[in-house]
Amino acid sequence: MPRITFVAADGSTTEATGDVGQSVMSVAVNAGIEVILAECGGACACGTCHCYVEPGWLQRLAPPSDSEAAMIECVIDPRPESRLTCQLRLSDELDGLVLHLPAAQY
Ligand code: FES
Repeated sequence: MPRITFVAADGSTTEATGDVGQSVMSVAVNAGIEVILAECGGACACGTCHCYVEPGWLQRLAPPSDSEAAMIECVIDPRPESRLTCQLRLSDELDGLVLHLPAAQY
């Protein structure tokens, strides 16, 4: 099971595992990551599952779709490493992925 490390804005970390094909958003929610609000349930329509991908991992992810890129423009403090966790699917290649969480989604 691929393992993800979530790094909170205060520097604390939470490790979680999920199944291949599962969305990173659902892994975060199941792990009790409260800042991942996921208000639209993963429909790429709210931006409240925003995270920042650790440098070095960004190139290993499939690029964002046009709809994800458009939604990222609406989040607080978007950066080049911004992604929406609901649009990221776990794979064996992503074992060890590190994601940084914003302090708040809005
Ligand atoms: S859960 Fe709404 S955009 Fe990801």
